[in-house]
This record gives sequence, C-alpha cells and structure tokens, in this order.
Amino acid sequence: MTTPLRLGIAGLGTVGAEVVRILARSPDMIGARAGRPLQVVAVSARSRDKDRGVDLSPYDWEDDPVALARRTDIDVFVELMGGSDGPAKAATEAALERGAHIVTANKAMLAHHGQALAEAAEAKSAVLRFEAAVAGGIPVVKALTEGLAGNEITRVMGVMNGTCNYILTRMETAGLPYETVFQEANALGYLEADPSLDVGGIDAGHKLSLLASIAFGTRVAFDQMQLEGIERISIEDIRQAADMGYRIKLLGVAQRTADGLEQRMMPCLVPASSPLGQLEGGTNMVVLEGDAVGQIVLRGAGAGAGPTASAVLSDLIDVAREFRLPVFGQAAQTLADAPPSQSATPAPYYLRMSLQDKPGALASVAAALGNAGVSINRMRQYSHDDNAAPVLIVTHACARSDLDAALQALPDTGVVEGDPVALRIEEI
Ligand code: NAP
Ligand code: HSE
Repeated sequence: MTTPLRLGIAGLGTVGAEVVRILARSPDMIGARAGRPLQVVAVSARSRDKDRGVDLSPYDWEDDPVALARRTDIDVFVELMGGSDGPAKAATEAALERGAHIVTANKAMLAHHGQALAEAAEAKSAVLRFEAAVAGGIPVVKALTEGLAGNEITRVMGVMNGTCNYILTRMETAGLPYETVFQEANALGYLEADPSLDVGGIDAGHKLSLLASIAFGTRVAFDQMQLEGIERISIEDIRQAADMGYRIKLLGVAQRTADGLEQRMMPCLVPASSPLGQLEGGTNMVVLEGDAVGQIVLRGAGAGAGPTASAVLSDLIDVAREFRLPVFGQAAQTLADAPPSQSATPAPYYLRMSLQDKPGALASVAAALGNAGVSINRMRQYSHDDNAAPVLIVTHACARSDLDAALQALPDTGVVEGDPVALRIEEI
C-alpha cells in the first residue's frame, strides 16, 4: 500500500473549492499520475457554514489556518487564501517551521516575501511551489524552471492580468469608455477585492517579478519594478493606436541590461498583428526568449477556478512524485541582488495631449521635445469644436529619461492643457 500525500487546504474560495472538487472527482487518475493517493486531511476558511458546492464532511475543519499549518498529520500546506501578509504568511511560515511542503497561488505574498520564504523552505529541505500564482493555468513556472533550464533567458514578456486585457479589448470592440467597462468587469466578478491591484498593474507586476527571479537568477525585486496602470487609457488612445496599427496592452517586460535588471509593467502599444496584439478578453500570454531555444509563446486562461486549480494540482502531483526543485529554480542563497537598470532600452513613444489652439502652440511643444533630445517621427492634430486641440505625436526611439525631461518641460510652454498621456511602443 503506497503512503498517501496528506494535504491541508487553507482557503476554500474560487480556487480552493475547485481544488477540493477535482481531487474528489478524479482520485484514481490523480493517484495514478502521482504514484500515490492525494488525501485531503483538513481544510480551513473563514466561514464554516458557507455552501461551497462541494462536500467538506470527509475532512477535518480548522477555524485557524495557522493551526491547520501546524498539524503534524499534514505533509503539504496548500495556501489558497491570498494576501501578501496576514494569515497567509503566518500560516505559511508556521508550516515551513516544521518542514511541511507548501503549494500556493499567492503571488502577492511571494512578490513581497519570496526570498525569505524560499530560504526558510530550503533550510528545511521542504518544497514551495507556486505555478498557480503566475498566469493561472499556463505552466510558465514549469517552462522556465524545467523546460528552459539550459537557456540563458534574454527576455520575459507578457500580458499577465486577464482583467486588464478584458477591459482594454472590450473598450476597443464595444467602443466603450474605461469607466463603463470597469463597472462591467466589476459586475462580472473579474476584479480583485481591491481593484487597484488589477488596474494599477500591481497584480501583474507581482507575477512578472516572480518570473524575473527564475529567469535571471535574481532575488525577487518587486519593489524595483516600474509600474503604471491602465486607469488613464481612454477610448481615444485605443482608437488612435488602432489607426496606427497598434493595440494597447498592459505589458510586462523583464530583461537584463548592461547595468542591472529592467522590470516594467505598463500599458504599451504593441503591433496589432503580433501574437500579443491579437490577445483578446481575459486571456494571458507569456513570451519567453532564450539564447538556445529562441522564442516560446504560451497562451491560455490566466485566472478562474478550473485553470488555477489545474496549476495547483500540477504542483501537488510533483510533490507527491517527490520531485524536488529549488523554489526559484536555483538555491535561494545563490540568487543575486539585481540593481534596477538605469538604462532602460530606448523605444518610440506615443504622446497624446490637448493643446490650446493658438499660433505657435505646436512649435513650442516640438521645441520642448527637441530640447530634451526627443525627436518627432509622426504628428497629427485632430479636428475639434472647442479651443483645445487633440494632438498625437509618435517619437523616434528615445530614452525614457529624455522623454520624462520633455514631459516636465511641457507645462512651461503654457499651451498644454492637463497631463499628456505617454505610452511606450514595444516592437515585438
Ligand atoms: P477567494 O475566492 O477570495 O477565496 C479566499 C478564501 O480564503 C476563502 O475561502 C476565505 O474564506 C479564505 N480566507 C480568507 N481569509 C481567511 C482567514 N483569515 N482564515 C481562513 N480562511 C481565510 O480567493 P481566490 O480567488 O480563491 O484566490 C485564492 C488565491 O489564489 C489568492 O492568492 C489569489 O491571488 C490566487 N489566485 C486566484 C486566481 C483566481 O482566478 N481566482 C488566479 C490565480 C491566483 P471564506 O470563504 O470563508 O470567506
Ligand atoms: N486578477 C487576476 C487577473 C486574477 O485578472 O488576472 C488572476 O491572477
């Protein structure tokens, strides 16, 4: 008789309840693939009385996830509560203290505490797996840590927040303003409890910081990421980008530069004909580039009960198979500190601004850009009824620092109304 892998599952919401459901539905298939049964011993959530559409009566109940993590009849603590700190972190630490393995979907906790948790796990020879934390059902952690382990990774890129991609593509296809589509996404239950995590780019930034750590052998450095959300993207930006053959995506890019690690998560224009440009709705896409393999494109559901539970189960089956791998693909103690790059790759930028319609206005804007070393490639002024003229400028490739200097100088021209929108154009 093979020894079962005993699980304690904390969090029975969208993801946790689905993990329990699949384990109850397909025990033989999962047991055969894992080489031993996966047995849920105990579960925990806030409310014991909530109907979760799954029979919990076979399992012990713990009100306190830390108590669940400390149970010695559990081999793996499955953390599916969420939150960077609080009970998720306390319970994970408690489980690691006694050498239990961890499987989690919690990108926020790992983005903030990944290094300390990885060191704690590895000190106890425990595994900590987090496939579900990045891009839901897409096996991107596995792709980087296993499939591409022999490559020098040159760039990691992707659309990793389904909610933002839904909002941006729906604005374009339905011609609706941001605020309307944001409300729609909220009604559909897409948004995190704190929507700024989604639309502010933070959730996607958490995910990119984890992939960057694996890809470049560096400590997780979420606090060094350049972050910008999609809140200021207007339907005009989307239309004008489309006019020029681009789509706007909340795009993450991580790459090594001469002086450090470049990590940015921000709305960018990407060619409409590129795989990223064609990504619709709540789908995610991750592009990985390696010196030997070239480019790999992974696409699929980045969220939702089934896809996320699928990733949790993959991790659990690996633990049952006794497959051991350092948390970030190499021993946590060997991960390097990566200074934030001061020399982000130059790129062309899209600028939208509103100019007072008077003689010399365009000339003074062109001069402000030119004085900062930013050269104009294309420029359009749109017809208008009032005294403020919508103007669109596409620059030649320039350093972000030069563009920032130009943006700082624009108010002094006395002709620019409000804050210009500046979006990087990523040729991929
Ligand atoms: P959720 O639906 O909000 O569920 C959270 C669960 O945690 C609930 O069952 C809740 O209990 C329980 N919980 C919260 N605080 C607790 C506490 N102090 N003690 C005990 N239980 C507590 O969240 P989710 O969508 O399943 O997400 C879970 C994790 O997966 C998060 O880290 C999330 O970022 C990650 N993730 C989610 C998705 C997705 O599509 N949903 C995708 C990728 C990753 P009650 O039910 O009693 O309130
Ligand atoms: N809020 C996230 C998204 C959930 O929209 O992609 C999955 O991490």
